[in-house]
Amino acid sequence: MQSKMCLLRLVLGLTLVALVKSNLWCYSGCGHTPEHWEALDESHCGGQKQSPIDIVTSVVTIDPNLGNFTFVNFSSQSAIKNITNNGHSVQCDIEVDMVEVSGGGLDGEYSVLQFHFHWDVANNSGSEHTLDGHRYPMEMHIVTAKKGILPNETLNHNDGLAVLGFFIDATEDGNISAPWETFTSYLKDIPEEGLSVKVDNITIDDLIGNVDRTKFYRYMGSLTTPYCNQAVVWTIFQEPIKVHKDLLLRFSTDNGIAPNYRPIQPLNGRNITASPATPPLHLWCYEDHCDYTPSHWSELSGSHCGDESQSPIDISTDTVVENEALNSFNFTNFDNKHAIKSITNTGHTVQCVLEDGLVEVSGGGLSHVYSTLQFHFHWGTESAHSVGSEHTVDQKQYPMEMHIVSKRKDLTLDEALKTPDGLAVLGFLIEAPSSTKSSSSTAPAETTSPTSSSASNAEAWKALTHHLPDIKDVESEVEVTDEISIDDLLGNVNRESYFRYSGSLTTPSCNEAVVWTIFKESVKVDQVLMAMFPENTGYHNIFRPTQPLHSRKIFTTAAAAGLVPVWVYLLLPCLCTLFC
Ligand SMILES: *[C@@H]1O[C@H](CO)[C@@H](O)[C@H](O)[C@H]1NC(C)=O
Ligand SMILES: *[C@@H]1O[C@H](CO)[C@@H](O)[C@H](O)[C@H]1NC(C)=O
Ligand SMILES: *[C@@H]1O[C@H](CO)[C@@H](O)[C@H](O)[C@H]1NC(C)=O
Ligand SMILES: *[C@@H]1O[C@H](CO)[C@@H](O)[C@H](O)[C@H]1NC(C)=O
Ligand SMILES: *[C@@H]1O[C@H](CO)[C@@H](O)[C@H](O)[C@H]1NC(C)=O
Ligand SMILES: *[C@@H]1O[C@H](CO)[C@@H](O)[C@H](O)[C@H]1NC(C)=O
Ligand SMILES: *[C@@H]1O[C@H](CO)[C@@H](O)[C@H](O)[C@H]1NC(C)=O
Ligand SMILES: *[C@@H]1O[C@H](CO)[C@@H](O)[C@H](O)[C@H]1NC(C)=O
Ligand SMILES: *[C@@H]1O[C@H](CO)[C@@H](O)[C@H](O)[C@H]1NC(C)=O
Ligand SMILES: [Zn+2]
Ligand SMILES: [Zn+2]
Repeated sequence: MQSKMCLLRLVLGLTLVALVKSNLWCYSGCGHTPEHWEALDESHCGGQKQSPIDIVTSVVTIDPNLGNFTFVNFSSQSAIKNITNNGHSVQCDIEVDMVEVSGGGLDGEYSVLQFHFHWDVANNSGSEHTLDGHRYPMEMHIVTAKKGILPNETLNHNDGLAVLGFFIDATEDGNISAPWETFTSYLKDIPEEGLSVKVDNITIDDLIGNVDRTKFYRYMGSLTTPYCNQAVVWTIFQEPIKVHKDLLLRFSTDNGIAPNYRPIQPLNGRNITASPATPPLHLWCYEDHCDYTPSHWSELSGSHCGDESQSPIDISTDTVVENEALNSFNFTNFDNKHAIKSITNTGHTVQCVLEDGLVEVSGGGLSHVYSTLQFHFHWGTESAHSVGSEHTVDQKQYPMEMHIVSKRKDLTLDEALKTPDGLAVLGFLIEAPSSTKSSSSTAPAETTSPTSSSASNAEAWKALTHHLPDIKDVESEVEVTDEISIDDLLGNVNRESYFRYSGSLTTPSCNEAVVWTIFKESVKVDQVLMAMFPENTGYHNIFRPTQPLHSRKIFTTAAAAGLVPVWVYLLLPCLCTLFC
């Protein structure tokens, strides 16, 4: 038994770290940087099931077989033996045959051998896996070997090893966790390759902290260092371990190893699954309960949110330019009462998905025919005085805004997102019927001038909002069988009179691919129905702040077709009292 464990230690301890002598490969500054690892003798680094990968959460499927893990002796004070600088990372060896993991969808019991880290903290990057393109400053790998397999055969099994991966995020809130303070204090003692010191009084549980270990992703892959053997069943926990940045910086400053992460490898058709407890991921949000609020959206990887032609904008009506080319739209199937397929809670908004290939938009100065995909909403709070539109007109923000999103018919969605006029969004500002008169706050309350559009679309909005209590949960979706057309929702709002500019999606990745149309007349919806959006979803103030116009021009339909100036509306009741 003793000799078997000794062999296991030798074979795996060496294989995972130093079987390929450390100067044969590196992350930068030697002959065999990651793109050349596959040229090493005996290398699997060019294989089809390599790690790390980007975990794209929208393609992850839930696997009910990914149950809870069982962790044995993760809280043992004597489990962590050493911390060693091996030239590529710092690694802690674990007392042989003492610490185990099973469950979590793993086939059998696995014995923990060691854990180590990948980082580039100073550059705010460094994790090997990425989550929807986001790279954390650090990643911890707990490496385990399947029990019951001869050590010399571990690497010949596709699940011979199981690696538990934890993202580590840097905090700057002033809290210093005691275990990480102690743990990182050892780093100054191992500044050079080959140095090792004894580690006392820290458990693996101390380091993992309160990360929820029931939320994780699973896929089959490889070691992320040469020889990149495809023998690893990977577990990546969704929640990061949070450690103060000052402590994480010690990983670099004390030893000069960084960055030490392998680039993302192709998925090649592999399945990524998630445990049932793993919620859909929302890295970004509008308010203060996520990593990326609107002012930080530009820091998301792959994001265009910091570019020059962003949406929404304020439309300053005294700078808009008349354009004769902005003619009438051609709306196809806007009157179809079966075009709305379902209504869903996306985690950010309420969205109505349309039947494929049915609804179209053309004309209106657009150079292509656009296929309409969905419409969704932006809003404020339940309060009667709340505002929540994304676009503003002369700094006026409306209670809500509806976006009807269409894609160029001749492009795929991916192509459209990369093309300046790949998408066309029709934006309708929404307000309560009574607020037309209160736009002039001095107007006396008794001068009621009900607009003709207020009553006609009320039933359609009632039918639509009636579904909101059924989609309280994120990603819930219900079929829409009511006979509601888009025309029913828009009522008789004037669609000849609108503004036009080039901009972006108003949510990450903020692709600058949108021809925007903002209609001048607002759609009228009862305040009680508007309040149902925040009430049922719990989402508040889901609008992006207006963005700088920079050098862009805003165009407007010609005056003949354009908006009757506000003063005419204001004057009408007066003229009426005089002459009617
Ligand atoms: C991916 O995993 C899910 C959940 O276990 C399974 O239903 C599905 O068939 C798998 N897909 C492939 C391509 O293996
Ligand atoms: C898994 O663990 C969670 C939290 O520890 C618990 O709520 C849940 O009931 C467990 N599930 C099973 C199947 O044991
Ligand atoms: C752990 O450290 C001790 C003392 O430095 C050393 O004797 C021992 O060989 C180390 N063990 C490993 C596995 O590196
Ligand atoms: C857990 O560690 C203790 C010693 O601290 C040991 O006696 C026990 O066998 C270990 N458990 C397992 C399952 O290895
Ligand atoms: C990473 O940080 C180092 C300094 O710590 C800097 O020299 C280097 O340019 C940075 N790399 C990137 C990609 O930002
Ligand atoms: C592993 O070692 C055993 C003896 O311990 C031997 O029988 C077997 O052939 C070896 N397997 C490989 C793949 O070398
Ligand atoms: C910082 O520590 C305090 C006290 O332990 C705790 O209440 C607070 O939640 C911690 N902050 C964070 C961000 O963990
Ligand atoms: C570790 O804990 C033991 C007993 O709990 C204590 O005697 C010892 O001083 C501690 N060592 C360190 C380095 O904190
Ligand atoms: C409107 O669009 C439909 C379908 O794209 C097309 O068949 C029709 O000719 C268009 N009508 C006008 C007036 O452009
Ligand atoms: Zn690793
Ligand atoms: Zn929108």
